[in-house]
Amino acid sequence: MTEHLKFEATHISRVFGHGKKAVTAVDDVSFAIKDREIISLVGQSGCGKTVLAKMLLRLEQPTRGELLFNGKPITATGDPRNHWRQVQAVFQDPFSCFNQFFTIRNQLKASFRLFEKKPSPAEIEERVDQALLAVNIKPREIDGKFPFELSGGQMQRMLLARIFILKPQVLIADEPTSMVDACSRASILDYLMKLKEELSMTIVFVTHDIGLAYYVSDSIYIMHKGKIVEQGPPDDVTQRPQSDVTKRLLEDIPDVHREWIPREAAVAAAR
Ligand SMILES: Nc1ncnc2c1ncn2[C@@H]1O[C@H](COP(=O)(O)OP(=O)(O)OP(=O)(O)O)[C@@H](O)[C@H]1O
Ligand SMILES: [Mg+2]
Repeated sequence: MTEHLKFEATHISRVFGHGKKAVTAVDDVSFAIKDREIISLVGQSGCGKTVLAKMLLRLEQPTRGELLFNGKPITATGDPRNHWRQVQAVFQDPFSCFNQFFTIRNQLKASFRLFEKKPSPAEIEERVDQALLAVNIKPREIDGKFPFELSGGQMQRMLLARIFILKPQVLIADEPTSMVDACSRASILDYLMKLKEELSMTIVFVTHDIGLAYYVSDSIYIMHKGKIVEQGPPDDVTQRPQSDVTKRLLEDIPDVHREWIPREAAVAAAR
């Protein structure tokens, strides 16, 4: 049964600290993420989205409960690098994911270190070029450039280029559109969708914005105080919300989102 599941969490929690100072960041959640599914984790600041995402990335361990990846305990692969080859992340701040003292190109080339079988230097150069073109950057544009010489939006596209190189099974995208304007934001989402199609990835999308989640996901998980309080297909969660938390999140959406175009049409239009 677990065969086609990417992740299966059974009553997982993550507690920081002890005694009176203990903070339960993720509180007894269970879920199953299918292969090639796009999940959105939605909730207010501090509700536990990033901590949950970090457990999927194996950057945090559950304090309690069981977390399976491809049907096996997430720690089964031993070396965490084996996990990171398959599960990659795009974080809120793209600058924090790149070293300021090395050129972008060298850092993209360094991604190949995670590979079991490293390609030849010529092939690495070629694959870096392909990845840049895939995110609409002319390779010459970034030649010799350092991260601080690029804009936030360009850096976010560099992160996507790295995903294109690594071709992970799962992508965890934690507010990947936070640093860019609305226009680039739409194109980043478009790239994410393109990557999903080309690489048949499973995507876990972390956001405050339930409107955005509605357009991109197959399933929405609403989080509140460490718990998943509601989950389901976007149409159910947004049109027939069951939990008060979901209702409040929907009320926070600016009016422009109110007249929602049917999701299928929006997705088709974005292609
Ligand atoms: N390393 C840590 N040590 C102690 N507490 C932590 C740690 N990491 C997170 N927390 C706490 O866990 C809770 C959930 O944090 P988390 O970063 O997952 O929130 P979030 O939903 O991602 O919020 P945001 O939308 O602002 O990014 C918060 O109360 C936070 O202070
Ligand atoms: Mg967060």
